[in-house]
Amino acid sequence: MSTMLEQELKAIEEAAETIDAALPRADIAIVLGSGLGPLAENIEEAHTISYQDIPHFPVPTVISHSGTFISGKIGGAKVYALSGRFHYYEGHDPHTVILPMRVLHKLGCRKLILTNAAGGINPNFVPGDLMVIRDHINLAGYNPLRGEHADEWGPRFPDMSNMYDAHYRELAHSVAAELGLTLQEGVYCGLSGPTFETPAEIKMLSILGADAVGMSTVPEALAACQMGMHLLAISCITNMAAGISKHPLTHQEVMETSKMVEKHFSALIKEIVTKM
Ligand code: HPA
Repeated sequence: MSTMLEQELKAIEEAAETIDAALPRADIAIVLGSGLGPLAENIEEAHTISYQDIPHFPVPTVISHSGTFISGKIGGAKVYALSGRFHYYEGHDPHTVILPMRVLHKLGCRKLILTNAAGGINPNFVPGDLMVIRDHINLAGYNPLRGEHADEWGPRFPDMSNMYDAHYRELAHSVAAELGLTLQEGVYCGLSGPTFETPAEIKMLSILGADAVGMSTVPEALAACQMGMHLLAISCITNMAAGISKHPLTHQEVMETSKMVEKHFSALIKEIVTKM
C-alpha cells in the first residue's frame, strides 16, 4: 500500500513524463484565465496536448477553459501555456487545483505568469483594466499546501512576504508604459466561488484592503511560491464587484470584457515574456 503522498508524487511524475514526451520544454509558464485563452493563438511553433491525454489531469468544466497544454514560442521566449485551470468550485480537491504547478516545477519551469478574470473593488478601476497583483488575501477557506509534505517542494512553512516578484512587477509596469497601456496594481482577494459575492461581502473586502476579487490564482500562487518559482500575476478587471456594479453580475459579462481586452493583454504578455 502506498501512502497518499507517494501516490501524489507518482501522479505528478506521470503527468510530467507524458507532457515531456509530447512537448518541447519551456522556461516560462502562463496560466490563462477566463476568456484569456485566445492569447494561445499568439504562440508560434505550438505543440499541444489535451488535458484528456495527460494522466491525472481532469478535464475543465468551465466554458472558455479549453483544457490544452501548449508549448511554443512567444517573441523568441520558450513558453508553456495552460489554457484551462482547475478551480475548487468545480469540486476538485485542493491538491488537484495545484497539480499543474507541481507538474510545471517537475518539468524544470521556474517562471510563472498567472492570469485571471476578477471583479474590481477599488473605485479607481474600470472594467477592462489590467491589474498586476502585488499581494493577496486568501479567503478561499482552505490552503492547498495542507497535507503530507514532500521536501522536494520546498519548505513546510513557506514565507509569503515576497511571493509576487517585485522585479516582474516593475517589468510589467515598464512594458505597459512603453505600450501606452494603463496597468493598475493591487491586492487580489481569492474566494472559493462559484457564487459571486454579496454587496456586504464586497464592502468587507474593501475594508480589508482588497482591490479585486476572484475565484482562482491564490492556490496556484501559494504552491508556486513554496517551490521557489518566480511569479507574476495579472488580473483582468472584467466587471465592478457586487454592489459597486449597478447591474447583476454574469459570466457572460466576464467573458465579454476579457474578449474586449484580449489584444492589450496579449501585447503586454508578449513583451513581458521576451524580457523575463
Ligand atoms: N467576483 C468573483 N470572481 C470574479 C468576478 C467577481 O466579481 N469577476 C470575475 N471573476
